[in-house]
Amino acid sequence: MAATVGIVGVGLVGSAAAYAIALSGIAGRIVLVDHLPALAQAQAEDIAHAVPFAGATQVEAGDYDKLAGAEVVIIAAGVGQKPGETRLALLARNAAVFAGVVGEVRRVAPQAVLLVATNPVDVMTEITTRLSGLPPGRVIGSGTILDTARFRSLLGRHLGVSPQSVHAYVLGEHGDSEVLAWSTARAGSLGIRDFAAQVGAAITDAVRAEIDDGVRRAAYRIIAGKGATNYGIGAGLMRITRAVLRDEAAVLSVSIRTGVVTGVREVALSIPRVVGRAGVTADLMPELDAKETEALNRSARLLKDTQDALP
Ligand SMILES: NC(=O)c1ccc[n+]([C@@H]2O[C@H](COP(=O)([O-])OP(=O)(O)OC[C@H]3O[C@@H](n4cnc5c(N)ncnc54)[C@H](O)[C@@H]3O)[C@@H](O)[C@H]2O)c1
Repeated sequence: MAATVGIVGVGLVGSAAAYAIALSGIAGRIVLVDHLPALAQAQAEDIAHAVPFAGATQVEAGDYDKLAGAEVVIIAAGVGQKPGETRLALLARNAAVFAGVVGEVRRVAPQAVLLVATNPVDVMTEITTRLSGLPPGRVIGSGTILDTARFRSLLGRHLGVSPQSVHAYVLGEHGDSEVLAWSTARAGSLGIRDFAAQVGAAITDAVRAEIDDGVRRAAYRIIAGKGATNYGIGAGLMRITRAVLRDEAAVLSVSIRTGVVTGVREVALSIPRVVGRAGVTADLMPELDAKETEALNRSARLLKDTQDALP
C-alpha cells in the first residue's frame, strides 16, 4: 500500500513540506492536521490542485484519527520566529503546543517515525523524544539539514561545481552556535583545498568568512525580507521523509538525542547520520580539527543547558 505521511501544523513550513512531498511523488497520501481546521482544509485543496501536474498523491485534511497508519508524521506546529528573535527564545511557546500534539500522534500512529521541524528544533526534538517515549532514532529533528544544504550550495558556487558533488556538513545546533566542518569538506574525491587549487578558486580567509556568514545568517536575512523561511526547509523535510519511506540508508545531517558528543551526554544535535525506514540507524561522527571540536562542544553544552532547564 502506498505510504501515508502526516503533517501536523500546516502554516508556512508544514504546507511547504506537503507541497514538496506531493510534487516528489514519494507518498501515496498526505494528511494535513492543524488546530485551525479551515486552514488545513484550504492548504490541502490548494496543494491537491498541483498534484495533476506531477503525479497522483492524495492530499487531504482532517483530525488526528486520519493519521492512523502513517509511516512518517512531520510536526511543524508552533509559532514562527519573529525578526531578531533567537530560536531558543521560541522554546517556551512551542513546548506547550507539543505536549498536546505528540500525545495525539502517538495514540493514532504508534508506528510512525516522527520528524520535528519546529524551532528551536534540537530542543523540540529532545522534548518530543521525552514526550513520545520512542527510542531516539525514531524521533528525528530536521536539525542542520538546511544549513548543510546552504553550505554545499555556497561552496559549490565558489568552486564552480554542483552542490551534489560537494560533501560538507554543518554540525551541532541548528542556530547561532552551529559548526561548519571545513576540515572534512570534500568535492568529488578531493579535500576542499586541493579541489580549490586545481580549479583556481582559492578558499581565502575572506571567502571562508563570507560562506560562513552566508550559512549562519541566512535565516535572519530571509526572515527580515519575507517574515519566515519555508521553501528550503520544506524540501529538506521531503528529503528526510524520502529517506525513511524508501529505506534509503542515506547519510543526512539531522538531529536526534545523542549518547555522547564531545563529552556532552544525552543531547539532541546534528551530525551526519544514516537514515532509513527505522529512522536513524547509525551516527557518523566526523574527524574534526581542534577548533571545530571545541566549537561543537560549546554548541552541545549550550543545547544541553537549555534542555536541562526544561521541566
Ligand atoms: N527546522 C527548520 O529549519 C525551520 C525552518 C523554518 C521554520 N521553522 C520552524 O517551524 C515552525 C513553524 O513555522 P511556520 O512559519 O510554518 O509557522 P506558521 O505560524 O505559519 O505555522 C504554524 C502552524 O502551527 C499551527 N498550530 C499551532 N498550534 C497548534 C496545535 N496545538 N496543534 C496543531 N497545529 C497548531 C498553526 O495554526 C499554524 O498553522 C516554527 O517553529 C519555525 O520557527 C523551522
